[in-house]
Amino acid sequence: MEEQKRYGHFDDQHREYVITDPQTPWPWINYLGNEDFFSLISNTAGGYSFYKDAKFRRITRYRYNNVPMDNGGRYFYVKDGDTVWNPGWKPCKTPLDFYECRHGMSYTRITGRKNGVEASVLFFVPLKKWCEVQKLTLTNQSQETKSLKLFSFEEWCLWNAATDMENFQRNFSTGEVEIEGSTIYHKTEYRERRNHYAFYHVNAPIQGFDTDRETFVGLYNEFANPDAVMEGKPRNSHAHGWSPIASHYIEVTLAPGESKDFVFLLGYIENEQDEKFSAPQVINKTKAKALIAELDTTEKVDRAFDVLCTYWDALLNIYKVKTGNDKLDRMVNIWNQYQCMVTFNFSRSASFFESGVGRGMGFRDSNQDLVGFVHQIPPRARQRIIDIASTQFPDGGCYHQYQPLTKRGNNDIGGGFNDDPCWLIFGTVAYIKETGDFSILDEMVPFDNQPGSEVTLFEHLKISMDHVIKNLGPHMLPLIGRADWNDCLNLNCFSWDPNESFQTTENVSEGTKAESLMIAGLFVVTGKDYVALCKKIGKADEAERMQKAVDAMIEAVKKHGWDGEWYLRAYDFYGRKIGSNECEEAKIFIESQGWCTMAEIGAEEGMVAKSLDSCKKYLECEHGMVLNNPAFTRYIYEYGEISSYPEGYKENAGIFCHNNPWVIIGECIAGRGNDAWSHYAKILPSYVEEKYQTLHKVEPYVNCQMVAGKDAFRPGEGKNSWLTGTAAWMWYTVSEFILGIKPDYDGIRIDPCLPETAKDYTVTRKFREAEYVINIHPNGQQKGVKQITLDGNPVDGTVIPYSKGKHTVDVQM
Ligand code: GLC
Ligand code: GLC
Repeated sequence: MEEQKRYGHFDDQHREYVITDPQTPWPWINYLGNEDFFSLISNTAGGYSFYKDAKFRRITRYRYNNVPMDNGGRYFYVKDGDTVWNPGWKPCKTPLDFYECRHGMSYTRITGRKNGVEASVLFFVPLKKWCEVQKLTLTNQSQETKSLKLFSFEEWCLWNAATDMENFQRNFSTGEVEIEGSTIYHKTEYRERRNHYAFYHVNAPIQGFDTDRETFVGLYNEFANPDAVMEGKPRNSHAHGWSPIASHYIEVTLAPGESKDFVFLLGYIENEQDEKFSAPQVINKTKAKALIAELDTTEKVDRAFDVLCTYWDALLNIYKVKTGNDKLDRMVNIWNQYQCMVTFNFSRSASFFESGVGRGMGFRDSNQDLVGFVHQIPPRARQRIIDIASTQFPDGGCYHQYQPLTKRGNNDIGGGFNDDPCWLIFGTVAYIKETGDFSILDEMVPFDNQPGSEVTLFEHLKISMDHVIKNLGPHMLPLIGRADWNDCLNLNCFSWDPNESFQTTENVSEGTKAESLMIAGLFVVTGKDYVALCKKIGKADEAERMQKAVDAMIEAVKKHGWDGEWYLRAYDFYGRKIGSNECEEAKIFIESQGWCTMAEIGAEEGMVAKSLDSCKKYLECEHGMVLNNPAFTRYIYEYGEISSYPEGYKENAGIFCHNNPWVIIGECIAGRGNDAWSHYAKILPSYVEEKYQTLHKVEPYVNCQMVAGKDAFRPGEGKNSWLTGTAAWMWYTVSEFILGIKPDYDGIRIDPCLPETAKDYTVTRKFREAEYVINIHPNGQQKGVKQITLDGNPVDGTVIPYSKGKHTVDVQM
């Protein structure tokens, strides 16, 4: 392996990743915003902002798959004599004397230096505010006075990100702006049904502006050399139709050593219907001015930034580990938890791989994301569960996705993904164990958001389980429907038409034969949880009923789901085996190994151990475990999209990081700590960061959905970074199964599973109204807690009972 070039490094003390070369192998991005107003920002300040919903409320424009790749964003141009440069290097790409981008917890700081001038921009979205702050500090580090011309730049999106990039016959005529003082307002469609507008403001007098893109840039120019900037002359253009933008022009003189701050604000405002206008055609700017007043000085902005930092301090104080292994500690304490918050917020909607227009919030995705997030802000997790459950149908099925702005199920994709219902139990149980809040089960929750249809959340859980039981196939295994967790295993699709969606087409009617071992395992795992929950809340009969169904499922798997060395993956439409040694290709799949080992199906008969061994033998490679092996080399129309991908990518034998943790948890439950750890470290970003920055390409501080598998052209290349269930599963795996701190109804269960080389470590865990400092002494053991003491007193078993206050726990393995 050749020595890989490095583009940055971790700064654990500041919880930042520091990028030192702007030409990263792919844009390395960060997310700003925590609740309503969000931005994506790359290491060269590319990206965009939106309010709640990246499709329906896009504030600034972004062109995906552009040339160059990451073009468009919030750009500052500094014109110093004849030299024009940007603090983030792009878009001018003028070579800088110094460049640095620090991606931190919900903020990014980009600094550039050129010819004795430093421009440093801090980007963040203040808590509870609907705006992005861009605090620009210009410093003259030279010996002479500098007269600089500064241009800002944002390009407005006409709100609906989908029609914005297709309906030009309309779009080019609708754009409208207002300019007042140092604020540029974007009010396209405000005259009719929209009651929102956006603005771009700077807290200093301006000497000019532009709001019409072609006038500012020039029709034959690019962002890299806009006419107005190159000539150092704003045009004071007023956009009417075409493409509205916002650019401020400011003349700045700096004495040697002098420094000046400018606060730029990109804001979003909503007005009541009868308060929309202050005069005919003039928008009511009261709220915009109020928001501006809250952030119009450096001091106010610094205070808002402090509040944001304190917020993250508190969030990251809930679970903290000290093992002495920096690579582990920084992922557990910082980046994994941070990514969990981001995936909770965005599901799979907006990243540099998800265009923000394709997908809303996934039913299964969001339930899984909960396990990574629930300890951070439980009330938001609670609300999410209710929102998700509200998109369920009375028969237990559910919309596969819903739109965050409306919270309504998405009709285009519909339902029929038969694993979906089980995930509701997964998410809800995680929430109750974290909080002890059983009252959520009594919440009245509608079906398909229809008022009047409400039943308790518990009833939703019950029908979710029943949905599986009522949809069993010929082997008494769960019918797969359109797909299970693997969206691409489409066993009822049978498509020869490239214009059909694999996910929504069922050419062979409601599937009554194709069955999934993945759902079988998922049903057993969540069924056991459901049974325990029923017992806990005094529903003994229901517990017994479901236990029988779980037992029956276990029997069905043992009888029809075992292939000799591993669990089968599925039965196809014709009742033929998938993921069997009998198959020509894709003899073994990871999903059923993960779920059936987590469910411990056939553990006494040796199935679990054999399955885990087979994962090592047939699925593992240098960069993780592939999804299936061998890869499909041709399209099999009975199988659908899975066989559409070239070998080694995505669901066809890619390393789908999301499901590696399933096997790792299987290893942990089986007590095989060495194996669990070696699988885990292979896909842990900090280990990858150290070795493979160039090969891996995508951000080294977060997990990506997929790493090219061993059959791919370039094994180890990452794709689809940020928004992936991998975040929550990695967190669940390390926090609960490897480090072994597991919230339970009555306290915290302690049951680590470690490599035998593990040293003593300490976890500080805030839990409800208590804080536990847990010192764990592995004593060379991979698994098995020998003795626990709580505040000096021995505890029976492995659960430390919950009680308020501060506690010290000592664990001998
Ligand atoms: C994507 C989807 C997820 C699915 C997975 C496997 O990550 O968001 O729902 O389970 O792909 O197909
Ligand atoms: C597929 C992807 C899969 C995703 C699905 C739904 O093309 O391979 O990962 O979950 O589409 O959007």
